[in-house]
Amino acid sequence: LRASFSSKAQKENNRNFNYKLQPQASYKVAVLGAAGGIGQPLALLIKMSPLVSDLHLYDIANVKGVTADISHCNTPSQVRDFTGASELANCLNGVDVVVIPAGVPRKPGMTRDDLFNINAGIVRDLVSAVADNCPGAFIQIISNPVNSTVPIAAEVLKQKGVYDPKKLFGVTTLDVVRANTFVAQRKNLKLIDVDVPVVGGHAGITILPLLSKTRPSASFTDEEVEELTVRIQNAGTEVVEAKAGAGSATLSMAYAAARFVESSLRALDGDGDVYECSFVQSDLTDLPFFASRVKLGRKGIEALIPSDLQGLTDYEQKALEALKPELKASIEKGIAFAQKQT
Ligand code: NAD
Ligand code: LMR
Repeated sequence: LRASFSSKAQKENNRNFNYKLQPQASYKVAVLGAAGGIGQPLALLIKMSPLVSDLHLYDIANVKGVTADISHCNTPSQVRDFTGASELANCLNGVDVVVIPAGVPRKPGMTRDDLFNINAGIVRDLVSAVADNCPGAFIQIISNPVNSTVPIAAEVLKQKGVYDPKKLFGVTTLDVVRANTFVAQRKNLKLIDVDVPVVGGHAGITILPLLSKTRPSASFTDEEVEELTVRIQNAGTEVVEAKAGAGSATLSMAYAAARFVESSLRALDGDGDVYECSFVQSDLTDLPFFASRVKLGRKGIEALIPSDLQGLTDYEQKALEALKPELKASIEKGIAFAQKQT
């Protein structure tokens, strides 16, 4: 690594790319499903983080090449590959953050729930290995249907006696990223400033952007609220249809997940001002899991943020009540699946 910084031109080059010569912290991150459409760009983005010392890439196939490729980037973290179940324990040993994008994506005409039959078992088995090998890690589930895979993960961790609800996250950052983008475009706002909380879950009408809580504050006509809400709820399907059978969102998802990983690492590193939306165990509503803004800290979730759910508009309040039966059913489906296995 040092050799790659040896010449003056090289140093200048690296300054231009804004990479740090030394890691600023030394956290270990594992990506499970790292050779996939999300896994590859996500691994690349995590390789750019100055907070990461070790990046472990796991998949059932094709991960050696991905690792060889990414490992040539002259950023500080060391990248290692792990293939197949026999190498999973070694991959997870000592890891601080585990990100799970393993599983099949949608094709046009499918719902996220149509992925349940394949992805439920994948998430169950991977989280079981996390429980055995790095039970204190932050666990970040990307695999769909998130509304069910997160409850599955919680049950598996409970069965293993290591469940810490403060450290289990369904990654819903992409909903926030999309909401921010679409609102900024529609209202002609400076993108970098816009922050829209998205609550509920991660499928169809369970995705509820709270446009009335947009910061900086913005006003919307009823038509704009309807149009933006529906677009944010259907944005995943928009990508699935555009890809026409070649999968679902991968690049924007990798970007969103990398943001969530970086936020988690900053929180682990002691930054006291880290907030993200995530689908987590929650008592903010009558549902056992619910996506909301959470404050992240060294030990995981420090607080759920209830204020976004106060003073909702009539439209948002109705949408919140309307999403509950579907979200409840998806949560219960996940719990029943995990309990049936024991
Ligand atoms: P992909 O098919 O391109 O990649 C999935 C990877 O998982 C493959 O490399 C595959 O080999 C691997 N895999 C399969 N079984 C595995 C196992 N048991 N252990 C480890 N790895 C395994 O799919 P993708 O486009 O990367 O999407 C992955 C998942 O993420 C899908 O379920 C998709 O629906 C979901 N997703 C979620 C969000 C979100 O916002 N949470 C966004 C986009 C996609
Ligand atoms: C998304 O929101 O893009 C993902 O959940 C993938 C999908 O199936 O839409």
